[in-house]
Amino acid sequence: MKMPAADAPIGVFDSGVGGLSVLRAIRAELPNEDLLYVADSGYAPYGDRDAGFIEDRSAAIAGFLIDEGAKAIVVACNTATVVAIEKLRAWCPLPVVAIEPAIKPAAGITQSGVIGVLATRQTLASANVARLCAAYGQDVNILLQPCPGLVEQVEKAELDSPASRALLETYLAPLLAAGADTIVLGCTHYPFLLPLVREIIGPERVIIDPATAVAKELARRLGNQRASALRPEPARTRFLSSAAGSNASSVVSALWGSPVLVEPIQARPIAAIG
Ligand code: DGL
Repeated sequence: MKMPAADAPIGVFDSGVGGLSVLRAIRAELPNEDLLYVADSGYAPYGDRDAGFIEDRSAAIAGFLIDEGAKAIVVACNTATVVAIEKLRAWCPLPVVAIEPAIKPAAGITQSGVIGVLATRQTLASANVARLCAAYGQDVNILLQPCPGLVEQVEKAELDSPASRALLETYLAPLLAAGADTIVLGCTHYPFLLPLVREIIGPERVIIDPATAVAKELARRLGNQRASALRPEPARTRFLSSAAGSNASSVVSALWGSPVLVEPIQARPIAAIG
């Protein structure tokens, strides 16, 4: 494969609109890079799907981004990372940067020795999270809290509804009762609920969202590979969704904070990639 030009876009994807929380960190860090965001909202949530399904969707979207001329891929989905990253990296010819639950930094920060990790069922059941817990859980009690239903709330842009609050209160209560002083947002949808989380847990506890760290890692990788954009002016951001046509544009606009148009995508099946 001919390597894309430095001014080619960076492809970013998630199971849905959650990865926009990573995209905004990338936009802040890299104002001159063209960005191409794919929300796989037609298939969200990934969190209750089996591993094979998540691997296939991740490969199909990465293949689409390669076809679109992307120069790097950002997996802005913890579930896709912990389930599918090894397979994706094995065949993908582009640099791949991926988000994963920030268990390591949380274990370094906690004063109480108890951290809480909010994430999807699939993420928390994965071998990669087991590996992180084994590596950083020697002296720290790591509480893994699955949060079914939260992704769906953010997919509807219900960021402060009574239903979203009730779910969060249910999921945070056992973590607070056990003395957690550090809460990891281990799903890229959850930072959109951060004001609610903050209200529920109070001002003292630490909330960790690794989006900025991912954006900085991406900038470092592009710089090392001499693949940073050369254009001096602010760049374009395009939004695509496998559920475009319904109310995708209004949901993405609400989360992105300005009106945007969401285009449809048809990611080709995994069998066609290679
Ligand atoms: N934003 C995805 C993540 O970070 C949500 C996965 C899902 O669709 O369940 O895990």
